[in-house]
Amino acid sequence: MDNIDMKNIQWFPGHMAKTRRAIMSNLKLVDAVVEIVDARIPLSSRNPEMDRLVNGKPRMVILNKCDLADDKATQKWINYFNNKNITALAVDCKSGKGLKSFVPTVKSKVLKELLEKREKNGMSGTPVRLMIVGIPNVGKSSLINKLAGAKRAKVEDRPGVTRIKQWVKLGNNTELLDMPGVLAPKFEDQSIAIKLAFTGAVSDDILDIETLAMKLLIFLKENYSESLKERYKIEYSGNETGPDLLIKIGKKRGMIVSGGEVNTERTAITVIDEFRSAKLGRITLELPEVKQHEK
Ligand code: G4P
Repeated sequence: MDNIDMKNIQWFPGHMAKTRRAIMSNLKLVDAVVEIVDARIPLSSRNPEMDRLVNGKPRMVILNKCDLADDKATQKWINYFNNKNITALAVDCKSGKGLKSFVPTVKSKVLKELLEKREKNGMSGTPVRLMIVGIPNVGKSSLINKLAGAKRAKVEDRPGVTRIKQWVKLGNNTELLDMPGVLAPKFEDQSIAIKLAFTGAVSDDILDIETLAMKLLIFLKENYSESLKERYKIEYSGNETGPDLLIKIGKKRGMIVSGGEVNTERTAITVIDEFRSAKLGRITLELPEVKQHEK
């Protein structure tokens, strides 16, 4: 029951090769690559091939869904990327929070050198062109829609109609390739797959929902104990197992089946849904590793 069915979450290899080719061929059309990740799992929602794929192109990381993540943790992640010389910006593409700084950040940091060179060569009129990449569900379309607003053209999605490469003008002489690069998530180990499942980035089918919820409850007990107690009005000593917590919550919520037992499936669905909609508070599932001397 505990074993993740990795087959269910591996992408079809042909599909991956195709998207990889599409990203590589579009890369020569843009000045920088904008990699969008989930602020709750900034590493688990990256694709390991990214470094190789961008091939030295300037890039930045967007920490999206920061409305769902822990602010302090998000700041740690921004520092983490900055220390690697990657500009990072926290945004919420649902409300648009943080997006005002997007173009100015690209121009003043990510493409500073290129723009200075263009200026010197009298080419400052050349548009700045960007490509968005990221794993499914991370918010690529939301980002493009929010940045482009009404300017985004409706694209016909009918068989036989070739999708034309479109550029969305963002103002300020900046254009976005309206064809995000969809990367596969990485499944290097089970803990990454589980974090992706917690956030809903991959199908829930990789694990049964009860196991998924119990794993989440253990994480919450260890890292966000107060949020857990407060949300479900439960008390615990700390030695509880996943099933203990699930049953406590089910009882508290009155999710009982005939015979008096807790309906663990319903309880599990509730826990996962409430986590995903931030009813348990703003929670980050992974932190950058801090080296001993940096503590
Ligand atoms: P994709 O193109 O990368 O596949 O992702 P997409 O923009 O479709 O976003 C996937 C889901 O994540 C959507 O929810 C979207 O609303 C949500 N989302 C995107 N950015 C943010 C954000 O910054 N904060 C929050 N809280 N959610 C975000 P959905 O349930 O699929 O659709 P809906 O809720 O918009 O109807």
